[in-house]
Amino acid sequence: MKNIVILISGTGSNMAAIVKTAQREKWAVNCGARVAAVISNKAEARGLKFASDHGIVTEVLDHKAYPSREAFDAALAQVIDRYDSPSQPVLVVLAGFMRILTPGFVSRYAGRLVNIHPSLLPAFAGLHTHQRAMDAGCQVTGATVHLVTAELDHGPILAQAVVPVLPGDTADTLGARVLAQEHLIYPQAIAKLLQRM
Ligand code: GAR
Repeated sequence: MKNIVILISGTGSNMAAIVKTAQREKWAVNCGARVAAVISNKAEARGLKFASDHGIVTEVLDHKAYPSREAFDAALAQVIDRYDSPSQPVLVVLAGFMRILTPGFVSRYAGRLVNIHPSLLPAFAGLHTHQRAMDAGCQVTGATVHLVTAELDHGPILAQAVVPVLPGDTADTLGARVLAQEHLIYPQAIAKLLQRM
């Protein structure tokens, strides 16, 4: 059985979409995988309740309790590695995990560390993607699922969804349209990746 560990910082709607898809599509049987744990760097992350309500182990690791980025990432890896073994490899899924990861952490999980970003990468890496897409006059924007590499919001693209920018859009209305697509492409990209693991 492969163990999916999902990292969140807030709402966790992508995490919820993955959990619901895993249940609906019977990933335990069809992909040999289960969502083993949800880890948040914020105790108040709303997604934690959804995860525990669905019988998933949750952990909170407050980054503010660690003296450096390296120390936090080392502690995070220690928790993740509880779910990693040769017979049960871990897939680490970033789902709104708003932390820059150290190169050591990224290389430890190379090829099995995925992220979703709310833009059509390589355009608009970083924050405030929807406002920046509107300010640039983009007629379309979207979301990207990618393998994580040392460079922020870069790495081999696994899936993308394209969304129109409509007249009268605000960052919020556009963001909601993009998020609805994120909930579709992220679980499907993960299911594909699981087949390759
Ligand atoms: C999502 O839109 C995700 O793409 C974005 O944060 C949101 C999390 O929402 N991630 C990033 O910006 C990472 N660079 P969620 O907590 O409801 O899944």
